[in-house]
Amino acid sequence: MNDIKKPLPPLDYIPADIACAYDYEQLAQAFIPADILAYIAGGSGHDITQRNNQTAFQDWAIVPRLLADLTNANTEAQLFGQHFKHPVFLAPVAYQSLVHPQGERETASAAEATDSCMITSTLASVTLEQIVARAKPPRWFQLYFQSRPEDTHALINRALAAGYEAIVVTLDAAIQAPSIRAIRAGFKLPGNISAANLAHQRPDEPLQQRPGDSPIFARYRQQAPALQHLAELIKASPVPVIIKGVMHPDDALQLKALGAAGIIVSNHGGRTLDGAPASLSVLAAIRCAVGDGFPLLFDSGIRSGSDIFKAIALGADAVLIGRLQMYSLSVAGALGVAHMIKLLREELELCMAMTGCASLAAIRATQLQTTLSGH
Ligand SMILES: Cc1cc2nc3c(=O)[nH]c(=O)nc-3n(C[C@H](O)[C@H](O)[C@H](O)COP(=O)(O)O)c2cc1C
Repeated sequence: MNDIKKPLPPLDYIPADIACAYDYEQLAQAFIPADILAYIAGGSGHDITQRNNQTAFQDWAIVPRLLADLTNANTEAQLFGQHFKHPVFLAPVAYQSLVHPQGERETASAAEATDSCMITSTLASVTLEQIVARAKPPRWFQLYFQSRPEDTHALINRALAAGYEAIVVTLDAAIQAPSIRAIRAGFKLPGNISAANLAHQRPDEPLQQRPGDSPIFARYRQQAPALQHLAELIKASPVPVIIKGVMHPDDALQLKALGAAGIIVSNHGGRTLDGAPASLSVLAAIRCAVGDGFPLLFDSGIRSGSDIFKAIALGADAVLIGRLQMYSLSVAGALGVAHMIKLLREELELCMAMTGCASLAAIRATQLQTTLSGH
């Protein structure tokens, strides 16, 4: 069910009324059909976690500092032996052709132009090889375990052969609570858009349901990776394996002990368990559990450079941008995504300069003050 108002086609220039990265979220409403917008913007269930992800950033204020020496100030990061010019990564986001005819190809060009690490989703709407053709390293591949082990292995081998340099295993979305907003808007994946890299796979086996068994538990058993499968992947992988979807310190510790190269604190942008805490609110405890030096990335709710600053102050080494990617892609393709990243980076640099932080390592929790008192 499309909106009666026809969405605008993507522009080949940056609109003059974009003053900050967040403006892309507002403007995208004119460029994305209403049902697709509901699918992208919505969280699972009633969007409670999705909303809290953003408001959690308001619980913190950034304390300015004076007379800083910013000689050699930079936003560089070293992670997994890879060098990054800045910590603003592009989160795995499925089916990008929903908002731009070239889909992930455009996002890849933006990643290339802005030295950003693009994490390609298992559910990308163009092939892994088409993306690689547009983006120089760093390029990472996000893996959803498939219900047949041979399909999972084939995907990993294909990503490695194409040159992806890390595997991000998403563990929190084997099943997802549906988005009520997307259901009400009548969202269905259009027939011309599909997961291009799963095209060769045979359809899933019918659910293995015992009599009286819940189809939800049955689906979870069929789709969620077992601990042993993850351990085998980590052991065999020639590239770092990073686990996405971590929300509890004990899970973080278990994954670290299993040999994961790093973790991503994330609640999938509020798209899995509605009612889960805001990702930001669990970040400091997870950093505390895994200790300094263990690579920890963060996403969910980031809409500005000051949000990025706060996430780094609370323990993140780098952050992933989800929805803003789709919004900027819809407005102006690669140009829009590149502009959005540039704006976020500048907003982060402003915060760093005004707090006297000459490096990401200098951004600490002491630069923040809680606003929970209401002031
Ligand atoms: C439309 C959409 C599709 C997504 N697809 C995937 C996916 O295929 N794999 C994955 O690990 N995460 C996926 N995510 C979650 C993002 O990687 C990320 O965790 C989340 O968007 C971060 O929150 P934010 O949108 O507030 O930045 C998706 C998110 C959105 C909005």
